[in-house]
Amino acid sequence: MSIHCKLAILITVLTLENHVHSGKIVGGHEAVPHSRPYMVLLERHMSNGQIKYCGGFLLNEDFVMTAAHCQAKNYTISLGVHNIHGSNEIQRISVEQAFPHQHFNGTSFVNDVMLLKLTSKAKFSGNVKAIPLAGRIDGALPKSCLVPGWGRTDRNSKYISPKLMEVNVTLIDNEACFLENFYCSQGETGPAEGDSGGPLVCEDGKAFGVVSSAVTPHSGGPDIYRYSKIPDSRDWILWTMRNAMITM
Ligand SMILES: *[C@@H]1O[C@H](CO)[C@@H](O)[C@H](O)[C@H]1NC(C)=O
Ligand SMILES: *[C@@H]1O[C@H](CO)[C@@H](O)[C@H](O)[C@H]1NC(C)=O
Ligand SMILES: *[C@@H]1O[C@H](CO)[C@@H](O)[C@H](O)[C@H]1NC(C)=O
Repeated sequence: MSIHCKLAILITVLTLENHVHSGKIVGGHEAVPHSRPYMVLLERHMSNGQIKYCGGFLLNEDFVMTAAHCQAKNYTISLGVHNIHGSNEIQRISVEQAFPHQHFNGTSFVNDVMLLKLTSKAKFSGNVKAIPLAGRIDGALPKSCLVPGWGRTDRNSKYISPKLMEVNVTLIDNEACFLENFYCSQGETGPAEGDSGGPLVCEDGKAFGVVSSAVTPHSGGPDIYRYSKIPDSRDWILWTMRNAMITM
C-alpha cells in the first residue's frame, strides 16, 4: 500500500481522550472487581484547571505506562480502583516526572506512549500488581485480546464510567496499522473516550499495546481502533526506566 493511500485512510484521527467524540463500547461488560490489578486511573491536571482522565497500567512499583497524548501539567494516579466512587484501599500517588516518547507525532499518533515515574513507590497487594509486557513476537497477531477502562460507555454520556469495564477485541491484519507500529481492531465495539492510555491485554495476560486513537476508514465502515505496539517500544521502555532511576 502506498503512503498516499495510507493517508487517505487516516482521514479522521479521533483521539480516545475524554473531550473528543469517538466510538463507544458496545458489548463491553463490567470487569470482575480487582481482576485487573495493574489498572491505573490517571487524573490529568490540565493547565486551565480542568481535570481529565486517561487509563494507564502499572509496570513496577515506580512506573506507570500510558499514552503520550495523555500529557498534562501534572498527574495523580489511583491504584486498586474498581468503582471510582468507592474509597476503600485506593492508593493515590502523584507523578514526579513524565516521559513522553521523544518521537511522538501528534498528527499521526505514531509512538503514542509515555512513562510516568511515581513520587513514591506503589504498594503491591491483592488489588495492586504489575502487568508483564509482551516480548518480541514472530509477526503473528496476538489472539484473545481485551481492553479494560473507565472510558465512556455511551456516546452521549458526559462522564467516564464509574466502574471498570472491559471489552474483547479481535486484532485485524491491516497494512496501514502495521506501517505505523499499531495493532488495530475494528468494529462497533472497542475502547471509547477516557480509555486512552490503558492496556491491550492479550495472550498470557501480558500487555501488548497502549490504547491510542481511532480512525474512520475513508471507504466507510466501522472505526479502526489503534494500539501502540509494546513489542516495538520495549527497548525504549526499558532504556527510559533505567535512565530515570540512575538520574535520581
Ligand atoms: C498540579 O500543579 C498545580 C499548579 O502548580 C498544583 O496546584 C497542584 O497541587 C498540582 N497537583 C498535583 C497533584 O501535584
Ligand atoms: C507526523 O505525521 C504527519 C502525518 O503522517 C507527517 O506528515 C509528519 O511529517 C510527521 N512529523 C514528523 C516530525 O515526523
Ligand atoms: C472474552 O474473551 C474471553 C477470553 O478469550 C472469553 O472467555 C469471554 O467469553 C469473552 N467474552 C465475550 C463477551 O465475548
